[in-house]
Amino acid sequence: MTKKRVAVIGAGPSGLAALRAFQSAEAKGAEIPEVVCFEKQGDWGGLWNYTWRTGLDEYGEPVHGSMYRYLWTNGPKEGLEFADYSFEEHFGKQIASYPPRAVMFDYIEGRVKKAGVRDWIRFRTPVRFVRFDPAAQTFTVTVHDLVKDSIYDEVFDDVIVASGHFSTPNVPEYPGFGTYGGRVLHAHDFRDAMEFNGKDLLILGSSYSAEDIGSQCWKYGAKSITVAYRNAPMGFDWPDNWKEVPALTHVDETTAYFKDGTSKKVDAIILCTGYKHHFPYLPDDLRLKTANRLATNDLYKGVVYVHNPKLFYLGMQDQWFTFNMFDAQAWWVRDVILGRIGLPDKPTMLADVVDRVAREDAGADAHDAIHYQADYVKELVAETDYPSFDVDGACEAFFEWKEHKKKDIMAFRNHAYRSVITGTMAPVHHTPWKDALEDSMEAYLRN
Ligand SMILES: Cc1cc2nc3c(=O)[nH]c(=O)nc-3n(C[C@H](O)[C@H](O)[C@H](O)COP(=O)(O)OP(=O)(O)OC[C@H]3O[C@@H](n4cnc5c(N)ncnc54)[C@H](O)[C@@H]3O)c2cc1C
Ligand SMILES: NC(=O)c1ccc[n+]([C@@H]2O[C@H](COP(=O)([O-])OP(=O)(O)OC[C@H]3O[C@@H](n4cnc5c(N)ncnc54)[C@H](OP(=O)(O)O)[C@@H]3O)[C@@H](O)[C@H]2O)c1
Repeated sequence: MTKKRVAVIGAGPSGLAALRAFQSAEAKGAEIPEVVCFEKQGDWGGLWNYTWRTGLDEYGEPVHGSMYRYLWTNGPKEGLEFADYSFEEHFGKQIASYPPRAVMFDYIEGRVKKAGVRDWIRFRTPVRFVRFDPAAQTFTVTVHDLVKDSIYDEVFDDVIVASGHFSTPNVPEYPGFGTYGGRVLHAHDFRDAMEFNGKDLLILGSSYSAEDIGSQCWKYGAKSITVAYRNAPMGFDWPDNWKEVPALTHVDETTAYFKDGTSKKVDAIILCTGYKHHFPYLPDDLRLKTANRLATNDLYKGVVYVHNPKLFYLGMQDQWFTFNMFDAQAWWVRDVILGRIGLPDKPTMLADVVDRVAREDAGADAHDAIHYQADYVKELVAETDYPSFDVDGACEAFFEWKEHKKKDIMAFRNHAYRSVITGTMAPVHHTPWKDALEDSMEAYLRN
């Protein structure tokens, strides 16, 4: 009998979780399928693999990266730590709680280097299309080897989609953008806050990108930050040169006009208006269509595509929990593929989706949302051999984080939290975030 074949699309944190899940089963003596991961970029790490490029890359592919220089995690690392690979194991010591991107990349890479799964990945190989053959019950995956410039097909029994959903920007149009004299860009194309030093900046959006890109620009010397919100302001106690105003109505050559009748002359506009779930390589019958929320459409247990249960999606939810949730999902999907977990019939799977949506909708605030996603992580972890960890303890780090943000939005990253994996308290970082202008790993680890 030929070995089962599994395709993983994307080698970001979600795809790498899938590879690690299969490798850990093999290490415990299980027979595993042949796993092939297709990755469009030249290296692993997904969004954490920084690129200076914007627009199209050297092969004419849309640039995946949405991260920027000086990015530090926006939530405590104690909320995302791998249960099978602690920060202490990787760095040989406990480190401070809000690592910059380069430190996180090193940590993500450390686990999969140790697992020895790099050979499973075909880099510079975007997936172009996936078709399902109902008679054979297999998928034909069409990929493009960019280096050889050659397109080929391979057949798989199962497909795991892990291509992320924070890369294709949602770009609204406002009257006057076409003749505005300054630069208009989306957060996806933002790379270096130094560009806006001394400038009056307008930011649209009221979520994490607005908060963090505004904060970066403030830290690196923007003259003023004006944030226009569509529904609700973020409401933090902002610095003196930072203002939140109601929605933008239009712009002229120099000036932005807001719903409350006020206006502001601005040098540039950054659209922190979120991202779209975008799978240009999937046909209608396989393509997930969902909003960015905790309970997605059409995914049983948040991972199995109900209209074709040989197709799985990882990391498609909005995210409080990240790496540890992707792990919980990857281990669970692995166990379905290995036949350790059985799937119910389609009506039962659809009912599960309805129930998850209703439970998310019943929540009142961010506190409920964190509990909701924590319960989801616990549910999946309990059904596999992923090392169980104190998910409620991780929630506590999130609750403290929210309080620290309320207290001082420009100082929350100066706090430290306890690891729920090793039980160790993180050290307080050697330099307050607002004064730490260098984001290298060497600078961060000097504690
Ligand atoms: C600006 C920004 C900052 C963030 N900061 C944090 C943070 O501080 N902490 C946190 O926990 N999370 C953060 N996140 C959330 C982030 O989504 C996760 O941390 C994580 O990167 C998601 O992993 P993923 O593997 O699901 O997706 P991604 O990281 O997006 O990886 C997907 C991979 O799929 C590949 N791919 C895409 N299309 C194809 C194709 N057709 N064929 C082959 N390969 C393909 C991509 O090249 C990429 O490598 C941030 C997100 C953004 C946008
Ligand atoms: N340092 C970091 O770690 C960091 C930095 C940035 C981002 N991130 C991560 O990146 C992910 C995405 O965050 P995000 O903030 O980009 O997206 P998001 O959370 O989906 O928020 C999108 C925002 O855009 C607004 N918006 C959408 N369409 C609009 C329009 N037409 N006009 C005006 N406003 C509009 C929304 O407004 P409404 O609220 O009115 O709907 C919302 O406030 C998150 O997981 C976040 O944690 C992390």
